[in-house]
Amino acid sequence: MRHSLPCANAIISTHMRILSIETSCDETAVAIVENGRKVLANQVLSQIIKHKTWGGVIPELASRLHLEAINDLLAETLKEAQLKIENIEALAVTSGPGLTGSLMVGANVAKTLAWIHNKPLIQVNHLYGHVCANFIDTDLEPPFICMLASGGHTQVIKMNSFTDMEILGETIDDAAGEAFDKVARLMGLPYPGGPHLDKLAQTVQGNNNYSFPVARVAGLDFSFSGLKTAVLRLKEKIGEEVWERDKALIANAFQNCVAKTFLNRIEQTIESSDIRRVVLAGGVSANSAIRAAFKNKFQAPDYELVIPSLKYCTDNAAMIGSAAYFQACKQDLAVDYKFEVYSRA
Ligand code: KG4
Ligand code: ZN
Repeated sequence: MRHSLPCANAIISTHMRILSIETSCDETAVAIVENGRKVLANQVLSQIIKHKTWGGVIPELASRLHLEAINDLLAETLKEAQLKIENIEALAVTSGPGLTGSLMVGANVAKTLAWIHNKPLIQVNHLYGHVCANFIDTDLEPPFICMLASGGHTQVIKMNSFTDMEILGETIDDAAGEAFDKVARLMGLPYPGGPHLDKLAQTVQGNNNYSFPVARVAGLDFSFSGLKTAVLRLKEKIGEEVWERDKALIANAFQNCVAKTFLNRIEQTIESSDIRRVVLAGGVSANSAIRAAFKNKFQAPDYELVIPSLKYCTDNAAMIGSAAYFQACKQDLAVDYKFEVYSRA
């Protein structure tokens, strides 16, 4: 493994192990990551089963569940890495964006641990964390173009350095993950709908007569609310019986449209920036059609494509540990136990 990052920070040792905590939404996650690339432990406890009955995440319930889970998960993480907290060089935590109450659980646990054990604490932006999932187990270096798509955000980003994120375009209405979840709900699939819709779409073999047009939006921005409405109008037009019969085909057409939208934007970005290194990030990058479309289009030797393994696409703490390392390399490690969490990007 190559570590060519010029690390200006004197505190960064050759073995910088960071214990990271992620509680921004409905996954309680703790990880230990060495030098931003090597995961020593990765524990994720999903709350989905508890929120499913309500068809979405209940913020109050999410915070309570994080609180219940986090101590055992911390112990499990240290056990997995066979480390004691004394062996950790720093702590990291997601400080936003996300659900305020949930973020506060992770932040307070991290602040307390850092204070008791006299360790530096690094606060990480959740979206930056998603981008950094691509550094895990790879030699990826900036500059590169990132297609980031999660439940709340859809952005095309130019990473100018390990920490300089330039947002070139973003959604003007729904996030891609939100569109997946809403369309899946129309299909009667459980929350969160994205992975279920993906599974259904993958049952389609051969031709598909359904298709949806890519929304026309100026510049490098995105729009998914028209696509969501197009699926709803189609349902009304074809009627319940045909809808039920053709659901898999429609799911397939829907996700192909999202994949095409992403591809178009990245191709446009490549043309204007001449960067040929492309990465995917965020929960929606777990989608089979999107992964396949990117693998097909961005092939070596013309392009370099990095896609996180599935477990690092959706929310996890390893990506936060990776992000914290690259942040720490850039600036002095802060001993700031007073920062506030924030709900919006
Ligand atoms: O990044 P993430 O885990 O959490 C947020 O930061 O929002 O993304 C969650 C989103 C949800 O909308 C979920 O339905 C979607 O990612 N998702 C998928 C797939 N797996 C997760 N969407 C499409 N296909 C998938 N396989
Ligand atoms: Zn996320």
